Amino acid sequence: MKTFTGRVAVVTGAASGLGRELALRCGREGMKVALADVDEAALARVEAELKAAGADAIAVRCDVASGADVEALAARTLEAFGAVHLVCNNAGIAPLGVVWENTVADWQWTLGVNVWGVIHGVRVFTPILLRQGDEGHIVNTASVAGLIAPPGMGMYNVSKHAVVALTETLHHDLAARCARVKCSVVCPAYFPSAITESERTRPAALREERAQTDEDRAREANMRKAVQSGRLSAADIAARVLEAVREERFYVLTHPRILPAVEARMRDILEGRNPGSPL
Ligand SMILES: NC(=O)c1ccc[n+]([C@@H]2O[C@H](COP(=O)([O-])OP(=O)(O)OC[C@H]3O[C@@H](n4cnc5c(N)ncnc54)[C@H](O)[C@@H]3O)[C@@H](O)[C@H]2O)c1
Repeated sequence: MKTFTGRVAVVTGAASGLGRELALRCGREGMKVALADVDEAALARVEAELKAAGADAIAVRCDVASGADVEALAARTLEAFGAVHLVCNNAGIAPLGVVWENTVADWQWTLGVNVWGVIHGVRVFTPILLRQGDEGHIVNTASVAGLIAPPGMGMYNVSKHAVVALTETLHHDLAARCARVKCSVVCPAYFPSAITESERTRPAALREERAQTDEDRAREANMRKAVQSGRLSAADIAARVLEAVREERFYVLTHPRILPAVEARMRDILEGRNPGSPL
């Protein structure tokens, strides 16, 4: 998609971190923006920020794990702006833990937001974009955890590998239709955001009391340190995402220093070796 001005973007997870920066960037590019998140108070602040900067924006409370919510988001966007051109399926959470200790509720929550959220975004918005017959682009936020599988974060790895596979398939399916709709998958390494405070958005129905162990606490502390010490900012990553949309580039790999780990994983697979440490 070469032109942004006057077009319409939808961004999920827009209340914080990368989603917020994607929304602000779209606004600066002259796009109208539909902001979606479960955190209504923070979302209203981003909406106000966009409007203060002169952009046209609406804020919609939307739990991306709910198909009905995502359908309502699409309806609200079309009602407000009449079209959709750029869809950023970005909302995500990152609970940790070794895979056999994660509860059913942990898995349902993680896969609900990180996988079903993207499935609903693709399922609901792709037909709209295709029907318009205009240029369009779908951006799915995965992670380098969609290309390698670091220890202690299995649910997240599973969810992000799914997003990479879904988006690669979407790319092929759109190409087979000769569609004017393109897609990209974003695979950043750590960048500072509120992702380590994901528990704040866990629905009550999927909350389960489990005593935290010292190992859990150490894992969380390490993750916080890694996320907060990321050198690229969410704004830097948002800028690269919009560049990739403009250039119709599929893979948005923002952290080149992690790529040898991706190559090593592929080599282990091709050469039949057991997995080496990814970090
Ligand atoms: N920060 C990192 O180091 C990092 C690295 C790689 C990938 N990512 C990915 O980037 C994306 C954005 O995360 P971030 O780092 O900006 O985190 P963040 O916590 O700052 O922002 C995520 C947003 O998603 C929202 N959200 C959570 N559950 C939701 C739901 N069910 N429906 C709608 N919105 C929901 C949150 O309220 C929050 O506003 C995620 O997909 C994440 O997995 C982050």
